[in-house]
Amino acid sequence: MAPRKIIIDTDPGQDDAVALLLALASPDELEVLAITAVAGNVPLALTTRNARTVCELARISHVPVHAGCDAPLSRRLVTAEHVHGKTGLDGADLPAPTLPLASMGAVEAIVHHVRREPPGTVTLCPLGPLTNVATALRHAPDIAERLGGIVLMGGAYFEVGNVTPAAEFNIYVDPEAAAEVFASGVDLTVLPLDATHKALITPPRLQAIADIGTPVARAVAGWLDFYERFDLEKYGGQGGPLHDPCVIAHLLEPELFSGRRINVEIETVSDLTRGMTVADWWGVTDRCPNAHFVGHVDADAFFRLLTERLARL
Ligand code: RIB
Ligand code: CA
Repeated sequence: MAPRKIIIDTDPGQDDAVALLLALASPDELEVLAITAVAGNVPLALTTRNARTVCELARISHVPVHAGCDAPLSRRLVTAEHVHGKTGLDGADLPAPTLPLASMGAVEAIVHHVRREPPGTVTLCPLGPLTNVATALRHAPDIAERLGGIVLMGGAYFEVGNVTPAAEFNIYVDPEAAAEVFASGVDLTVLPLDATHKALITPPRLQAIADIGTPVARAVAGWLDFYERFDLEKYGGQGGPLHDPCVIAHLLEPELFSGRRINVEIETVSDLTRGMTVADWWGVTDRCPNAHFVGHVDADAFFRLLTERLARL
């Protein structure tokens, strides 16, 4: 079977970086047409730099990296250096990338690939704020019909928020963009904190990655050791959640995950609950289901998959 064509929209960040590596390590199943960077965990200049650093670490030079939106549709950018460090990839000392940035902008690249490939064959995988995706849909509404689907990391329901009591970071940063994506009619699969908070980087799981012993594994172990500090201080428990790789793992082995098709709306008005994903998990409204909302992951199997794939790079 031909590999599934994907575009990864991302704000690296250590967990984004691991998601990129997981995808790049799986060429039999996934063809990464493009990586599109967006402002989020750190400003755009750093997310574009970090995406290229990850490609170079994986010794992949054929996947173009495009720069996207440097701020949300209508709000001030909120970043997360307190989680990811000032570079966005703290925890591993890697050289500055030499890979060039693609001349085409990220929004143009998304539209270009979705229009060029046969309808229904390109899946968009947003791992950060949805600004690039919403902008592409605004500029080219026709791509909503042509997209094979959107599989994104964002939102929360039973897990509640991680940046406010109500909202998860990716949705919080650009709630207007999220509202437009969730209303687009595109086939939507959502990996919220409800799932990703079950994918915890426990010490044995971190050690299994470090034991691979390659430069890629050493960088990943350093990133995760740095990145999970914040969540460990905040939540306690056995380890930090590994959010974004859940998106790629869902493409590779969807049977590791479970959820239900429900209606999810985005709060954009209230300052108190801005960015909340109002998920009708119990079907108490007559609002049309618009997303497959994932609530569970088999964490042991997820980390086995991740570790096996990282060892290939
Ligand atoms: O809330 C977690 C999400 O916000 C992840 O995608 C992380 O990389 C940050 O972007
Ligand atoms: Ca991210």
